[in-house]
Amino acid sequence: MKDYIKHDEWNIIEEGFDPALNCISESLFSIGNGRMGQRANFEERYSGDSLRGSYVAGVYYPDKTRVGWWKNGYPEYFAKVLNSANWIGIDIEIDGEVLDLASCKVKDFRRILNMKEGYLLREFTAVTASGKEVKVRAQRFCSIVDDQTGVIRFTVMPVNFSGEIRVTPYVDFDVVNKDSNYGEKFWDEVARSVTDEGGWVVARTVKLDFHVATGMKYVIRKDNNQINLPVLRIEKNKYIGNLVSVPVSAGEELAIEKYAAVISSENHPKDTLKSICETELTRIAGKGFDTMLKEQKAAWELKWEESDIRIKGDVSAQQGIRFNIFQLNQTYTGEDERLNIGPKGFTGEKYGGSTYWDTEAYCLPFYLSTADQNVARNLLLYRYKHLQKAIENAEKLGFTDGAALYPMVTMNGEECHNEWEITFEEIHRNGAIAYAIFDYVRYTGDHQYVIDHGLEVLIAIARFWSQRVNYSEAKQKYVILGVTGPNEYENNVNNNWYTNIIASWCMEYAIDMVRYVREHDEGRFIQLAQKVKFREAEEISRWQNIIDTMYYPTDEEKGTFLQQEGYLDKEQILVGDLPPEHLPLNQKWSWDKILRSCFIKQADVLQGLYFLEDRFDEDTIRRNYEFYEPRTVHESSLSPCVHSIQAALLGKKEKSYELYLRTARLDLDDYNNDTEDGCHITSMAGTWMSVVKGFGGMRIKDGQLHFNPFIPDQWESYSFKIRFRAWLLKIIVAQDKVEIENRSETPVIIYLSGKPLELHPLKTALVPGH
Ligand code: BGC
Repeated sequence: MKDYIKHDEWNIIEEGFDPALNCISESLFSIGNGRMGQRANFEERYSGDSLRGSYVAGVYYPDKTRVGWWKNGYPEYFAKVLNSANWIGIDIEIDGEVLDLASCKVKDFRRILNMKEGYLLREFTAVTASGKEVKVRAQRFCSIVDDQTGVIRFTVMPVNFSGEIRVTPYVDFDVVNKDSNYGEKFWDEVARSVTDEGGWVVARTVKLDFHVATGMKYVIRKDNNQINLPVLRIEKNKYIGNLVSVPVSAGEELAIEKYAAVISSENHPKDTLKSICETELTRIAGKGFDTMLKEQKAAWELKWEESDIRIKGDVSAQQGIRFNIFQLNQTYTGEDERLNIGPKGFTGEKYGGSTYWDTEAYCLPFYLSTADQNVARNLLLYRYKHLQKAIENAEKLGFTDGAALYPMVTMNGEECHNEWEITFEEIHRNGAIAYAIFDYVRYTGDHQYVIDHGLEVLIAIARFWSQRVNYSEAKQKYVILGVTGPNEYENNVNNNWYTNIIASWCMEYAIDMVRYVREHDEGRFIQLAQKVKFREAEEISRWQNIIDTMYYPTDEEKGTFLQQEGYLDKEQILVGDLPPEHLPLNQKWSWDKILRSCFIKQADVLQGLYFLEDRFDEDTIRRNYEFYEPRTVHESSLSPCVHSIQAALLGKKEKSYELYLRTARLDLDDYNNDTEDGCHITSMAGTWMSVVKGFGGMRIKDGQLHFNPFIPDQWESYSFKIRFRAWLLKIIVAQDKVEIENRSETPVIIYLSGKPLELHPLKTALVPGH
């Protein structure tokens, strides 16, 4: 755990330069706009420790799988998010000495991520080996208005000398990935062009032939006046740059504005990339840095208007939650249904930038409540479009008749993860895909989605479960053998309660939706049934039979569900009994010891009780929570939020708050010692849920919005906004009252602690004494 980020409500601030923290800061101060993302690498050369990261959404590399012992069914490749062209680069030479913070003396270093306005700022004073001192200020952002562009204003001012500063803005496609199975380079040059005003490089990825054109234009000013000096054009394979030598006097400010465009074949035909790149560059350079910044601020203001959470009386909690919301909005904007949310977003290479069940299980509720309905719908469409691949995935494992197994890790619908206990066994992810459809429809009321797309997915998933179970003669029940539940600290277990219940639930929901579609749009139903060769009576009867006869491991005496068969045979010790130096287990214990222990990585039985809360009474949830939480080490970043929500439901306020804190500042405080690899973007959505579903107690029941709020003792008040169907509501929870503002022009009835409350248009209802 670290504590070097200054606490501030709207900014992430680092003061002083510590090279040992640089990779962590590069993750934390990342910027992005849904189409492209950039780690907080320096513009100028840096020879110290750094993970270079410039990412283009949707562009990846299928890196040939590397495993010791090949097993039939393993995917051919593991997808890698690609480090793409360095568009931020500006080399600076001061009278022949390279500006490099690894070799200069650094003073007054400050890095600020301005979350309100959406930009990154860095300021410092550097002293070169010969004693020349310069003041530098670098400000940049990925525009969310012009989302194929980024822009930088980089200023250098000599403090104690007059001399020559050479600046070289450049574009460099000769980049590598840290995560590469065979140490290959993934980009080949297609074309390049350089003029005195800038240039571009077009490169293609090896194997999949994604093309990206990255170009730049720049303007140099001295004390605010544009200057035109001779330019040296530099070009080499995959690289273009412009070297300009500028004479400057002490106290004079030299400013380089660099405009960059990143144009991908994901969005345009390959033969148009160069010309679009040039047009975009001319357009944004015409707008200028200040106008773009103004537009950026306005666009972020709108985002915050809909998604901000305000916490009064606790700056560190405020900063934590805003950081999470900021990063989520930078990662996914929902405009393109081919894109998704990697566990690290645009902040690092880990997890390959691929899509996990995290999206459906953790991220969907955030986008449902804070953005237009189409944003969440696009997340569902992403999986709908991958249905054929999910069917092929299942076929590779021997399933038939249109059964679909969605991948655990994917870029294009194919499985690309190759640890058998995850790839083949963590099949519960299929449940999250179906659950997301249910969650979306419950929230939005958009039943048409089920008719148009959802049912097809649900049938394919139900078919999978109906083939994956087998009937145990001994138990006279259906069982599911050889799985890994959400708790990855157990592998190859039989009858994981969560997997069994989510499998059953999927078949139930599929049956309900078959009936719904048949009733509401018979024509469509018949067409779909033909398309997927649905043998309605036979298949439904099999599903129903499995639902009615599924085996659920239970401990009758304790009144708890068993995580899996035999769980109680393990030595039962609690996390609190472990010497602190044994934690985190995944770093301190052998895998063998972990697998044989009772310790739980993340919510498993409790994940089921969280998803299917309406089916269980509070006492059942309590008994299970009280049994499992003390055995949970929360070593997945996805874990604390579910427990925080459940603790809130059970009135365990202190515990709920403690778990919330663990998720809210996970990256800012580098809680798990791994932020240098990137931020935990998908768990950030879980943090949002801890506030809105946990403290706010938000639920949807029978199409109605319910709140059951409490406020942590440490806070004066907190407020959040949600979009719910036609309404935008603001909920303010203080120690002595709750206020709910209806910001829409139509009235709505909501439920506060179980009681109906009518909210008049554009009015606030105040309920004292909460
Ligand atoms: C968790 C998974 C999760 C993955 C990506 C793992 O540590 O156990 O549930 O999908 O990380 O976030």
